[in-house]
Amino acid sequence: MPKLTIDGKEIEVAPGTRIIEAAKKNGSDVPYYCYHPGLSVAGNCRMCLVEVEKMPKLQISCHMTCQDGMVVKTNTEKILKTRQHILEFLLVNHPLDCPVCDQAGECWLQDYYMKHGLYDSRVNEDKLKKKKAYSIGPTVMLDQDRCILCSRCVRFADEISKTHELGIINRGDHSQIEVFPGMELNNPYSGNVVDICPVGALTDKDFRFKKRVWYLRSTDSICSGCSRGCNIQIQYSTERPHHANGERVIRLKPRYNELVNQWWMCDEGRYSYKFHDHNRIEAILRREPHKVTELDWETAISEIAGKIQSAAGKIGVLVSPQLSNEDLWVIRRVFQENLKVKNLLLVSPNAEGFQDDFLIRSDKNPNSKGAEQLGFTYDATALQSLLENCRQGKLEGLIVFGQDLFSVLEANLVEKALKALRWSVMISSNHNLLSESATYVLPAATYAEEEGTFTNFEGRVQKFERALYPLGASLPEWKILVNLSKALGQPVHYEEAGEIFKEMAGKVKAFEGFDFDAVSTGGSDVRTFAAPTIPELEKYDNIL
Ligand code: SF4
Ligand code: FES
Repeated sequence: MPKLTIDGKEIEVAPGTRIIEAAKKNGSDVPYYCYHPGLSVAGNCRMCLVEVEKMPKLQISCHMTCQDGMVVKTNTEKILKTRQHILEFLLVNHPLDCPVCDQAGECWLQDYYMKHGLYDSRVNEDKLKKKKAYSIGPTVMLDQDRCILCSRCVRFADEISKTHELGIINRGDHSQIEVFPGMELNNPYSGNVVDICPVGALTDKDFRFKKRVWYLRSTDSICSGCSRGCNIQIQYSTERPHHANGERVIRLKPRYNELVNQWWMCDEGRYSYKFHDHNRIEAILRREPHKVTELDWETAISEIAGKIQSAAGKIGVLVSPQLSNEDLWVIRRVFQENLKVKNLLLVSPNAEGFQDDFLIRSDKNPNSKGAEQLGFTYDATALQSLLENCRQGKLEGLIVFGQDLFSVLEANLVEKALKALRWSVMISSNHNLLSESATYVLPAATYAEEEGTFTNFEGRVQKFERALYPLGASLPEWKILVNLSKALGQPVHYEEAGEIFKEMAGKVKAFEGFDFDAVSTGGSDVRTFAAPTIPELEKYDNIL
């Protein structure tokens, strides 16, 4: 293990550690643009220059590995002056776009100018003009004028998505980023280039001009787009009213987890957030022929409890792998343990989809594994026979959690089954065909509006935090069930998701030894949220 001195402090690092990484670990502030821990070293921006004893010239710390006995300085006058010159050089042709640039507030040029630049411009000549904002694919806009040629995006397309759409063309100050002729940046991971572009050259079509970043707040969460469970941040508006079209969730960003998704996420997951604010069920509804009435929770719960009791076990319950472990556990307790319901089945709302050998999984549900571990398995034959039983009048009522039966089962069978039932209850966050016909429609919170856990396909239990308050009258499914269990006279008692998790950890093998509170601090067995390579970069963690 090499031992070296950085800014007077001794540090021992693992062989192969780069000076920039050791310096950050040691508390020294070394700025950089082209370096990215998930990409190969380009060494072209020169922002990370440091002094290494016995070397006459300044060295780029992103490229040089630590050697035993090295003495490194990161903040001498020579370095500070050089940083200033490099910034001046990078900004020579940079347009003064900040007031209209989407990156303002999270731009490394702005930040570094304030920290390491602060010089008076000496440029009297006209700036060199390059191509302004134009589309280079379905998700991304490129503004060549703003690019500092760090080549992060090119390396991403070469090394991570391996789709090779981008390159640097021309020479000298005419160098520019461009998509290769006949190509566009159209790969399943294209949005990541926006995250890693340190300036406003690459911007996200979905996010552009929607919100200034200083009006955004972030909450740690887990993507629900597939069974990988990429670690993400939900970024939502702090303004009231929220965005003009009523959106609270403004964008999703990947969150570093070495063991799950490193620094990346796929586009499908990234743009999957719209359902938090669109097409939501916000009120509690009772449907009668030619009449829909809005109810309060108390009335709805007591009416539904009455119907369940009078059905005397002749009910079916359908659950979804979109539900959290906590929801599934309470469903099990209320319907299986207390009410002894036999027809308790799992329905997968999403058909198997595209899968690759990187992040994207064909199972488009976040919690299939958790459902399986909690005793819910998918059984197509049992489902068919449940529908048949409904049709034949053997069941009186059906309670469906979080899915549109019309889109996952044969529509005419569902229709016949629903017609034959005396009543049905739909508990869901979003409107769909089933919510158009169910007797009771109960609004459920989305995963952004509650805390809980999903278990990814590898069996990794990961926690998501609450970002927003539930919309309208909606409640987490487990809370609805706590209220229902009271009305049924067989109450289960939970005040928060952590209590449910604790009970599961005591009773279910797959959760044994896990602790909900430890999960939220990161680094526990449960969440396996490894510390980023450079943890000190608080502000830049998200775009690293
Ligand atoms: Fe770097 Fe952004 Fe330019 Fe790509 S577009 S080279 S990421 S500054
Ligand atoms: Fe080292 Fe760019 S970060 S040269």
